[in-house]
Amino acid sequence: MASLVGKRILLGIGGGIAAYKSAHLARLLKQSGADVRVVMTAGGQAFITPMTLQALTGEAVRTSLLDPDAEAGMGHIELARWADLILIAPATADLMAKLANGIADDLLTTLCLATHADCLLAPAMNQAMWRHPATQRNARQLIEDGWRLLGPAAGDQACGDTGPGRMLEPEAILAEIGATATRLDNVQPLTGHIITITAGPTQEPLDPVRYLSNHSSGKMGFALAEAAARRGAEVRLISGPVALATPPGVTRHDVTTACDMATAAHRLAVDSDIFIGCAAVADYRAESVAAHKLKKQPDQDGMMLSLVRNPDIIAEIGALAAPPFLVGFAAETRDLESYARDKLERKGLDMIVANDVSQTGLGFGSDHNAALVLWRTDNEPAESTTGRRELPAQDKPALAEAILDTIVERLAHANRPQDNQ
Ligand code: C5P
Repeated sequence: MASLVGKRILLGIGGGIAAYKSAHLARLLKQSGADVRVVMTAGGQAFITPMTLQALTGEAVRTSLLDPDAEAGMGHIELARWADLILIAPATADLMAKLANGIADDLLTTLCLATHADCLLAPAMNQAMWRHPATQRNARQLIEDGWRLLGPAAGDQACGDTGPGRMLEPEAILAEIGATATRLDNVQPLTGHIITITAGPTQEPLDPVRYLSNHSSGKMGFALAEAAARRGAEVRLISGPVALATPPGVTRHDVTTACDMATAAHRLAVDSDIFIGCAAVADYRAESVAAHKLKKQPDQDGMMLSLVRNPDIIAEIGALAAPPFLVGFAAETRDLESYARDKLERKGLDMIVANDVSQTGLGFGSDHNAALVLWRTDNEPAESTTGRRELPAQDKPALAEAILDTIVERLAHANRPQDNQ
């Protein structure tokens, strides 16, 4: 993680019960060497006092836009310019709605309009409020406007509900800030590396108008491609049929079927340092594709399809004489960890990113995901032969950043020929 020493972080605290955790967050940021200033909304002050934050940061806490004393010191525009990074935690549904619509009716929202700093927010609200289409619309708008959303996590809520809407824990927020600080420092740890990524679904034709496919949106693979390119890698993205724009700096190779994807993967993986298999590849295809549209038969209620196995692309890449650092994905509905461990071994992977697709609002088609990352530690003196890291529910771009950080970390450990180049 990048150092936060000397980073100027403006912590905005909104009016949610999670505000009590913001005191701990302010302390963690200070301990990491950041220069922290706090701005609280009126709602935030109903849950925790400015005095607490002042004692923890050693700086006066700003609460009002129209405060002649404060403006005589560092005015609100100077404060907006001062920050390297604005972090709002907790961000309520109301605050997100204001920010998504450019409303500036208090100090915090005004600062956010006036700043050029990186802006992050950690949503915290009741699960129904988070799921509401208006909040989801605002979240999408904020991401489009350049905000990074950290979380929310899913689980028990202070109101008694269970579901998505919990503020990420302060330690997880700190880890995310570290990833953003890495970009602020313009560190590009993957410069000189070639990464091939598969993404999206495959389509397996039955006849000229029908095919077998799945619900994969490609969002996770595209987010990984974007995060890898930002870290300086040469990125080759092999994409099944998806409705997504190619991320900046990424070379895209469009394919339709698993066999096309396998051919492209072999061609592009040969000189790659890293191969990430994020595609939801169809396991089977039609034994033969009908030349003309299959017609229903008046005398038949059922129909038999004869299918044959598709190549297991990632396992084939893993079987190459000098395979790249190999990262697979495992979408499971039960026994997540044991199935993922089995795939790590069976497919010869260096790392696997497992996610539970039975959780509503996460995974396939969704903008959010959580993951359990497992990796091999065969080359390291360790009691266990696998390492593990739990990545909490967050939007896919944020999850992609965390996965890439883990890959960069593990690459440094893996004793592989490409590291000696
Ligand atoms: O076996 P399962 O499909 O669950 O494994 C998932 C992992 O294997 C993913 O990384 C996926 O991209 C990859 N895979 C593949 N070719 C297949 C099936 C899966 O590369 N035919």
